[in-house]
Amino acid sequence: MPVIAILGAQWGDEGKGKVVDMLAQQARMVVRFSGGDNAGHSVVNPYGEFKLHLIPSGIFNKDVVCIIGNGVAINPKVLIGEIDNLNERGVTTDNLFISDRAHLIMPYHLLLDGLEEKARGGKAIGTTLKGIGPVFADKIARLGIRAGDLLDKEALRDRLTTIIDYKNTILTKVYKAKPLSLDGVYEQYCQYGERLAPHICETTIMLDEAVNKGEVVILEGAQGALLDPDFGTYPYATSSSPLAAGACLGAGLGPTKLDRAVGVYKAYCTRVGGGPMPTELHDETAELIRERAHEYGTTTGRARRCGWLDAVAARYTSRINGLTGAVITRLDILDILPSLKICVGYELDGKQIGYFPGDIAALARCKPIYEELPGWQTDTTSIRGYDQLPEAARNYISRIEELIACPVNLVSVGPGREQSIEKTPIL
Ligand code: IMP
Repeated sequence: MPVIAILGAQWGDEGKGKVVDMLAQQARMVVRFSGGDNAGHSVVNPYGEFKLHLIPSGIFNKDVVCIIGNGVAINPKVLIGEIDNLNERGVTTDNLFISDRAHLIMPYHLLLDGLEEKARGGKAIGTTLKGIGPVFADKIARLGIRAGDLLDKEALRDRLTTIIDYKNTILTKVYKAKPLSLDGVYEQYCQYGERLAPHICETTIMLDEAVNKGEVVILEGAQGALLDPDFGTYPYATSSSPLAAGACLGAGLGPTKLDRAVGVYKAYCTRVGGGPMPTELHDETAELIRERAHEYGTTTGRARRCGWLDAVAARYTSRINGLTGAVITRLDILDILPSLKICVGYELDGKQIGYFPGDIAALARCKPIYEELPGWQTDTTSIRGYDQLPEAARNYISRIEELIACPVNLVSVGPGREQSIEKTPIL
């Protein structure tokens, strides 16, 4: 039985939540491994419609162990709100565990995210303002507060005293903002600690046990490969790794234990925030996709930028993740189009290239080279068998498989669990 990572293979918002919710029904464990509440995983299932930001999408199965891994940055207030919301709607969270090594988003991270963005002016990254850049910067700078720190109030106060003093210097001297009160932050985080204590523990041992027993373990990604701080469109990137390698690190799993890496791609492209996006459209097709698919951020409500599928980027993310399979989501959004385009190369400074440049200035100059395919103009939302898809839709999927050099496992034609078409098994 496999250990399988479900990964965003574009700029996030690919529909990973739905895929994990589906697969979790056959799993023993689901581990979120990166990001924070900048993510918004939409899940529609018999319990209703949910937007999860931190809790793994496996939570709807009471026998599935759900872990928020060490690689996730947790805003405790958001997490408690999410737990309460699930409980009120009849979903138990007794099966939720939080790695004691996961870093916490503190009030100064939220303040600094906003102040830093403002200071960037016209070069703002367009972050979600959830404190993600500042919390991961502190992790690497060894200034972080971790979930486990909430369990020892004395040590927490000691650590906070030094850190708040330092952060207040930055807030007041660099940004001319008001300082934070040590007592206020301490009291608040002690309360969070009391509430979350039953969930906080060492989580890598239970992960190891599940893996050794051969149980199905799903590593749930957040964001997408093109937002990776190393391989994404840096600096227009997020601050933790959404890649398969990040899955191992953020869950506490040796890379040799990962059996499968499945990339989730939308049938077209979207992006929120700044940074280059070669296939972005500014025409009625973009508008049509945005409205049909309601392409507005789950976390921030911002309108998403929309465009054709970029197979140069898609092949790149397939390669850097070592994908063993792919899921194509939101195929139904394209149902009404008479023809579709796929970007199969770029023209950069008069030359044709087939790779995704690391330099964003070069990427911004890339003009997409398109291949045009006929549309199917058939409603696919109630189709359940791959062979029942219109031929033009199957041709579109086959062409994607060729271009990304990876087989497609699953095609999604709507938000519901049942609106899924298996091509080849994932598990
Ligand atoms: P941050 O992760 O909030 O620092 O934002 C950095 C960049 O990543 C911005 O362009 C965000 O719009 C983008 N981003 C972060 N999380 C998500 C997500 O879940 N979906 C899509 N874009 C995201």
